[in-house]
Amino acid sequence: MGFLQRLSLLATIAMLVAAPARAEVAASQATDWPFDVTTLRAPDGSITAKFVSFGATMTELWVRDRAGDARDVVLGYDDNTKLLTDPAHPVFNPIVGRYANRIKNGTFSIPITKDPQPDAPNVYHIPTNDHDGQDTLHGGIYGWDRRNWTVLARTDTSVTYHHLDAADEGFLGDVEATVTHSVENGGTLRTSVHATATEKTPIMLTQHIYWNLDAFQGADDVLAHQLHVDASRVVAVDGDAIPTGDLIDVGGTPFDFRETQKIGARWNDTVDLCGGGCQGYDNCWIYDHSEQARPGVSLWSDLSGIRLDVTTDNPAVQVYTGYWLDTPRKVVHGGPDVNYTKWSAVAIEQEGYIDAINTPEWGVDQIYYPGKDYNWESVYKFSTVP
Ligand SMILES: *[C@@H]1O[C@H](CO)[C@@H](O)[C@H](O)[C@H]1NC(C)=O
Ligand SMILES: *[C@@H]1O[C@H](CO)[C@@H](O)[C@H](O)[C@H]1NC(C)=O
Ligand SMILES: *[C@@H]1O[C@H](CO)[C@@H](O)[C@H](O)[C@H]1NC(C)=O
Ligand SMILES: *[C@@H]1O[C@H](CO)[C@@H](O)[C@H](O)[C@H]1NC(C)=O
Repeated sequence: MGFLQRLSLLATIAMLVAAPARAEVAASQATDWPFDVTTLRAPDGSITAKFVSFGATMTELWVRDRAGDARDVVLGYDDNTKLLTDPAHPVFNPIVGRYANRIKNGTFSIPITKDPQPDAPNVYHIPTNDHDGQDTLHGGIYGWDRRNWTVLARTDTSVTYHHLDAADEGFLGDVEATVTHSVENGGTLRTSVHATATEKTPIMLTQHIYWNLDAFQGADDVLAHQLHVDASRVVAVDGDAIPTGDLIDVGGTPFDFRETQKIGARWNDTVDLCGGGCQGYDNCWIYDHSEQARPGVSLWSDLSGIRLDVTTDNPAVQVYTGYWLDTPRKVVHGGPDVNYTKWSAVAIEQEGYIDAINTPEWGVDQIYYPGKDYNWESVYKFSTVP
């Protein structure tokens, strides 16, 4: 039985039993289904976004192209339960936590130290789920992106989800997170997260949105998308994509997007940059500006004319060009017989310095505790280029 049929059966049973309280229970069960879609529309029609509470995940984002037609510019599934069941786990547009990106050997200490001794006091181990057990990726086996968040509040233009991470995945202490997604006139999407901790714990979050600003009309990859990244430094990583502690000056390298250029402009120089055999980017840029004053990343397509400017209070951004993608496309993107594959999209993940909890030489503090809350915000502004 499909979900809608189940829902209508529940509603019918509730009405037959004729107790108003039962009808309310049925309705609340409906909104508690973690894949139930919430649709937000800006009053001026410039932007429509859809979310499910599972992972506080965005499933569709419709914005206007140069001709005024709406396109869905984010990857995803037609069947949102695949967010839980797709073994490829490409992480399509959720909130990622409690600690995004990688943790060396799934290990850290509090206070943080370089190469903590595994058995020393105050050393913590998180399941390693990446690079054959060499590191933890995106918060462990079941990070925040694969948890059932609940709806706290909802209007026509905003939705707030809540998640209680009760010392999950070996992290210490409970973390409570609320995320609010909202849309505004003029083509704006805003996501903000607030998190509180009951004990000292690392927190570093991201929103893992995969963009294709053509929505697969006229191009199958993002190599011709124009990219600007306001950053002079990128984090140097080892073969497992773990920071070495060094920051690379982007000047004269394929990482230099201070002047806007096509993502694919130096494509042949990116062989092995994102890991052995991987071509493209999966790297952490450190923003030059420290305020949320100017866009950290701008991305546009000359084909569709859709332009995205991202401003954030985060100090860094991971840009991943999707080398490992292989998942059936949504129907609206030409699926399901055609797959999202390498370079189909670019994930632009606003984040902190990656694995700073194992890189004390940076002097970056990512430990939160009662009295020190975590805040994360990004604003995605859409417009068109001529
Ligand atoms: C990695 O962590 C495990 C415990 O999860 C530990 O047994 C091992 O010694 C650690 N490796 C290094 C190189 O510290
Ligand atoms: C989340 O909800 C899904 C669907 O109802 C369920 O299969 C899964 O077990 C739930 N996960 C947790 C961690 O409760
Ligand atoms: C990149 O490499 C491919 C295959 O080796 C080659 O056909 C192409 O001309 C190269 N592009 C540039 C811009 O050098
Ligand atoms: C698409 O990806 C799935 C795995 O997610 C794979 O089983 C299937 O063969 C792929 N389809 C194509 C056309 O490559």
